[in-house]
Amino acid sequence: MIHPDIESVIFSEEDIRARIAALGAEISRDYAGESVLLVAVLRGAALFIADLAREITVPVELDFMAVSSYGSSTKSSGVVRILKDLDELIEGRHVLVVEDILDTGLTLKYLLKNLASRKPASLDVITLLAKEGKQRVSISCRYMGFTCPDEFVVGYGLDFAERYRNLPYIGVLKPSAYQD
Ligand code: PRP
Repeated sequence: MIHPDIESVIFSEEDIRARIAALGAEISRDYAGESVLLVAVLRGAALFIADLAREITVPVELDFMAVSSYGSSTKSSGVVRILKDLDELIEGRHVLVVEDILDTGLTLKYLLKNLASRKPASLDVITLLAKEGKQRVSISCRYMGFTCPDEFVVGYGLDFAERYRNLPYIGVLKPSAYQD
């Protein structure tokens, strides 16, 4: 049963599960003999980090950050405010930042600069989705789940006005769901 507000499913629950299993296996190989600290940026990446962590076989720790976008203007200014910082010190740790979606790249650019200043042993990014043709700054993502069309996508952590995060698939929202 597809939610009535969803126009089409882009990535099914099975697509997502299979891709995350493959990414988990790749990460487990790459970090063999090490432990990895997964850092998710709330809130959208919460579902992804939970499923990803279970597909990684090397020792994993989890930590979380919350950032505010100062309203919509931040997305263009690239100014991000940290609302919740990491609980862990990351100096000397292998840090993998977990994002649900890379859009303009401005959030990650800010975060990576901030985290790099804390001197981790390594600092890499995994994003489940990257929007095609939208990146305004160059972000090097070591791991990527899928590229996705520049549509209004929701589900599997992605929201519209905090709704639809719990859909097990990723789909395009019908315009009627966000237009009056
Ligand atoms: C989304 C996503 C990234 C950011 C990507 O978060 O989780 O953090 O936008 O956009 P950018 O590449 O243009 O910077 P959002 O602000 O929607 O918050 P949420 O995770 O709580 O939904």
